[in-house]
Formats: sequence, structure tokens, C-alpha cells
Amino acid sequence: MTNYEALVRQLGRLTKGVEYDISNMANAAALLWMALPDINWSGFYILKDGCLRLGPFAGKPACTVIEMGSGVCGTAAASDETLVVPNVHEFPGHIACDGASNSEIVVPLHKGGKVCGVLDIDSPVFSRFTEEDRTGLEAFAKALEEAIDI
Ligand code: SME
Repeated sequence: MTNYEALVRQLGRLTKGVEYDISNMANAAALLWMALPDINWSGFYILKDGCLRLGPFAGKPACTVIEMGSGVCGTAAASDETLVVPNVHEFPGHIACDGASNSEIVVPLHKGGKVCGVLDIDSPVFSRFTEEDRTGLEAFAKALEEAIDI
């Protein structure tokens, strides 16, 4: 079981006094990569010029542009809802960046009340992400939103 409260505190320490958004997002991706068991990708897509564009991440190289409304990331961003996908192969339009991924969670990020990107985490384990992960990662995303300005 992941201690998300501790993770949020760690994120606060890592981002304190750091003004460059990319540095904060890179450390956030790395922190999740270290702390969450059974994952094969953790990172960000940033909404820029109407598309989601690859941001800081840990894991294998990934697709660089995702249209709003496409895949799990684009669907979560367009609907401004966290998506927990127990089996990505059953998700219509899922974009397979790493063939090892079997489940996924995507949490929208906001600035000024609007979606400005997403946090995306993939797992090789089916049904890897629980309600507890959803709540914890939403809290993590909220804490990150306060540290960045994208
Ligand atoms: N699977 C995502 C694409 C991004 S990768 O998982 C890193 C999607 O369907 O949007």
C-alpha cells in the first residue's frame, strides 16, 4: 500500500524554492517511479497549442503528441476526469506506447480552473490502480499544481 501522504510531503520538499516547472515535473515523475510498485511508466503530458505533448517522465520513450479526446490521456483531459483503466486493451482508442502496459491511470492537471495537462501512470499488471490510488494520485496532482505554472 502506498503512503500517498508521505509522497505529497516529499513532493513539497523537492519542489520548495524551485521555480522551473520542468524540474518540478521531472522530480514528480521520478518520485512516483521510485515509490509505486508494479509500474512501467510515470510522467506527464502538457497541453500546448491544443494538443497533449510529452513532458517529463520515467520509463520507455513514449509518443510525443496526443490529440485531445484520443487515447486514455486525451479522453481524461477532454472530460476533465480521472480515468482508471483496469485493462487498456479494452479501452477504445488506447494508445500503446509500451507494449508491456496492461492498466493505466490518468489524472488531469489544472491551472486557473482549466485542464493544462495530465499525469499518466502505466502498469504491466491488470487492475493495478485502486480507488485508494485514485484518491492519492489526485492529491499528489493537486500538490504539484501548486508548485507549477504551466
Ligand atoms: N496509453 C496512453 C498514451 C501514453 S503512454 O501510456 C505513456 C493513452 O492511451 O493515452
